[in-house]
Amino acid sequence: MSTATAFFQQQDFITAAYVVAFGMFIVGLAKLTSPTTAVQGNKIAAVGMLIAVLATLLNPGLDGADFLLIAVGLTIGTIIGVPSARNVKMTAMPQMVALFNGVGGGAVALIAFAEFRHDPAELSADLAIGIPLVLAAIIGSISFWGSNIAFAKLQGLISGSPVKIPSGLLVNIALMLVAVGAGIAILLGSESQGLFVLILLAAAILGNLAVLPIGGADMPVVISTLNAFTGLSAAAAGIALNNYALIVAGMIVGASGTILTDQMAKAMNRSIGSVLLGGFGGEAPAVEGAGGETGGTVRSTSAADVAIQLAYARQVVVVPGYGMAVAQAQHAVREMAKVLEKKGIEVKYAIHPVAGRMPGHMNVLLAEADVPYDQLKEMDDINQEFGRTDVSLVIGANDVTNPDARMKADSPIYGMPILNVDESASVIVLKRSMASGFAGIENPLFFNEKTQMLFGDAKSSVGEITSELGQL
Ligand code: TAP
Repeated sequence: MSTATAFFQQQDFITAAYVVAFGMFIVGLAKLTSPTTAVQGNKIAAVGMLIAVLATLLNPGLDGADFLLIAVGLTIGTIIGVPSARNVKMTAMPQMVALFNGVGGGAVALIAFAEFRHDPAELSADLAIGIPLVLAAIIGSISFWGSNIAFAKLQGLISGSPVKIPSGLLVNIALMLVAVGAGIAILLGSESQGLFVLILLAAAILGNLAVLPIGGADMPVVISTLNAFTGLSAAAAGIALNNYALIVAGMIVGASGTILTDQMAKAMNRSIGSVLLGGFGGEAPAVEGAGGETGGTVRSTSAADVAIQLAYARQVVVVPGYGMAVAQAQHAVREMAKVLEKKGIEVKYAIHPVAGRMPGHMNVLLAEADVPYDQLKEMDDINQEFGRTDVSLVIGANDVTNPDARMKADSPIYGMPILNVDESASVIVLKRSMASGFAGIENPLFFNEKTQMLFGDAKSSVGEITSELGQL
């Protein structure tokens, strides 16, 4: 072995490379906090991951056969991963994340199984290795199978509605007891491969059954929870294998997934428990009758009337929601805003933290349409401005503008912070019908006397408004 090879294969060098990689993960994450630096942050973290992979390949324990296997794995992963990540539509991003996250959990479960097969006696002989490996197998398997169900629900391969499992909680507890019991038996000295397979199997069924009862629209919260699980399982595997890269990267994923889950649940004013116990957010029913339970009249308007109101405004606040994503109206919205700005009208965008169906959904869409970042206003900031806004243009948003969240104590969204669009002088809502949004509840904003509804697909409606504006 040459001196140079020996130097690069030294454990200290490998550890130093890992530390550089972690530093880059953390800098990358920090840069994700602003849209202006997010792309750069992603690239920095990706280079960090490349360094971690290369450092792992320097491990002196690897031989020719190992490299061949690694090369096959990398090739398969690249062939599947790169085109699917490049071609994925923005609206399909949550299920893509679910799938990739699940694969991570599955890989960890398989690593744990491989380690067990390599030396079954090691798990009971050294509990500092055995306990994390059993945990990695259980959590990794739950994450893989749970993520697959999340993917299937969001992709429409199975129904997005909550699927009630009879005595679901008891069944899940029983499955967890089986997995943990089999793990304890192995830690106490059993070297049975069948028991290890039982751990993986019980956790697999548990992953399926835990996610099936949760409504499709709650999936982003579930995915972020499973993401945290995958991180924890990777960290556990890292402890067992004494691999710093797995420990640190796993803990970063575990911590960020947990924080994200918590923030999403808070922004929806729901406890994580209520999300995970399911039953909320199935298919959205249409609101019956003209006045619904709120009573009152719905005022429908035309693109020409909307254009006139906008043309006379000083400040217009665009409130985008899930419907803008469905209609892919973001470019049309940007074109309309440019016309308004040319007329000297100030345009701002109100961003609710859980508008749409994934964290940052609206920011990503609007950034794609080149909306200047300084026009994107977070909820707390824009809520102070509605009082001096002439027109709020609600484009495919519903729940995030529902005043019941402030006023109706028995509403399922009571307490959820909302965008106070009803404080502006006039509100125009673009949507296709009176159907409810994700929460499946009526929105009294639509019956407010300040509100006018422009019914139709958001992209066509915005296009019509822009062409009417051009004629004024
Ligand atoms: P929603 O309340 O879901 O309402 C979206 C509205 O868009 C619907 O009422 C729908 O009405 C309309 N729409 C759909 N397609 C349209 C189209 N092509 N053109 C025009 N309108 C269209 O959306 P929101 O206000 O953004 O609220 C998000 C909801 O999702 C919240 O309840 C939130 O808690 C929940 N959620 C969010 C997340 C994250 S992380 N963002 C995660 C899980 C759950 P029509 O059918 O009448 O058109």
